[in-house]
Formats: sequence, C-alpha cells, structure tokens
Amino acid sequence: MTLGLDWQQLRHCLGRFATGVTVVTCWLQGRPHGLTVNSFTSVSRQPPLVLVCIARSAKACDAMAGSPFVVNVLRASQRELALHFAGRPQPGLEIAWEPGKVAPRLAGCLAYIECLPWQSYDGGDHVLYLGEVIDFQCQGGDPLLFYGGYFLSLPAEETQLGGGLTQWLW
Ligand SMILES: Cc1cc2nc3c(=O)[nH]c(=O)nc-3n(C[C@H](O)[C@H](O)[C@H](O)COP(=O)(O)O)c2cc1C
Repeated sequence: MTLGLDWQQLRHCLGRFATGVTVVTCWLQGRPHGLTVNSFTSVSRQPPLVLVCIARSAKACDAMAGSPFVVNVLRASQRELALHFAGRPQPGLEIAWEPGKVAPRLAGCLAYIECLPWQSYDGGDHVLYLGEVIDFQCQGGDPLLFYGGYFLSLPAEETQLGGGLTQWLW
C-alpha cells in the first residue's frame, strides 16, 4: 500500500472518530435512491455549504454529479434504515419516501438538509460533493451514532436535559 500504510490499521484508527449517521437521497434514473453516509460535515456559513464524500463505486456517485440531494439525519431508532441503505436490505422494512424541496427524502428523520449542487472535487476513490443548503428542518430526538464499526445510541442519562452535556462548545 502507498507509503507502506496498513489499510486495516488505518481504518481501525479512523474508526475512533465518532459520527452521526445519514442517508443521502437523490434521484437515480427517475427513481428515489439513498445510501448510508457518515462522511457528512458542515463546511461554510456564507454561503451555507455541506460536504459528503461518495465512493466512485456507489450507484449514487454519478447520479449526484450536478444534481440536488438531501442529507437525512437518522434517529437512534432508524438502524434498520442505515443497514438497508448500506447495501443490506432488511426484510419487511417499509421505506417511507416523501417529496423534499429538491429531491426525495425519507419520512421521520431527525433532520433534513436539502442541497443544490455547488461543486465537486476529486477525492481518490471517492468524490467530494459540496451542496448549497437551500432548506432544512429538524426535530427533537436521539441521533444514531457510529463508532468503531458499530451503531450506537446515546446512553439514556446523556439524553436528559443537562445530564453529562454541560457546555455548549461551538
Ligand atoms: C455507517 C456507514 C457509513 C457509510 N458512509 C459512507 C460514506 O460516507 N460514503 C460512501 O460512499 N459510502 C458510505 N457507506 C457505504 C455505503 O452506504 C454503501 O456502500 C452503499 O451500499 C452504497 O450504495 P449504492 O451503491 O447502492 O448507491 C457507509 C456505510 C455505513 C454502514
């Protein structure tokens, strides 16, 4: 491997960074499509930009070029959706699509970030898609988390007002 790095060890190390979990949705050949994504991050305030990194091998990758997309932030109760859209179809799982402003989105998520295409960049075997946020919505509830290759939820006491979450940092 490049520079003698061991990919498995690097992957293990990168997995120490805890994230939320999203499903990025878009149109694919006229049909709603989604893929599970944890490479989501906010980028710019003015203009409001967010980033997702999409594998070139993903079906959505070409479809997202120059196209709008929605970042659907998953709830702790939506693990099955995360698995389904990560290529592991969940038997009996009903996918509730609803129209977004710019692209189809998934009903019942913790937050929605609706984006128009802004710019894309080469990211090796991924493409970095920046989207300009043109609408957003969020509701109360617990997020689905991803850490060390596992889905996690916040411990119950952390979800109480004030419990453990003592300081607004940023
Ligand atoms: C927790 C989690 C996070 C993921 N994050 C990303 C990501 O940021 N970018 C990406 O391209 N794939 C990511 N994947 C993998 C895709 O969800 C998976 O390859 C999916 O099947 C691709 O969908 P498609 O080829 O049907 O479009 C992630 C998978 C999981 C379980």
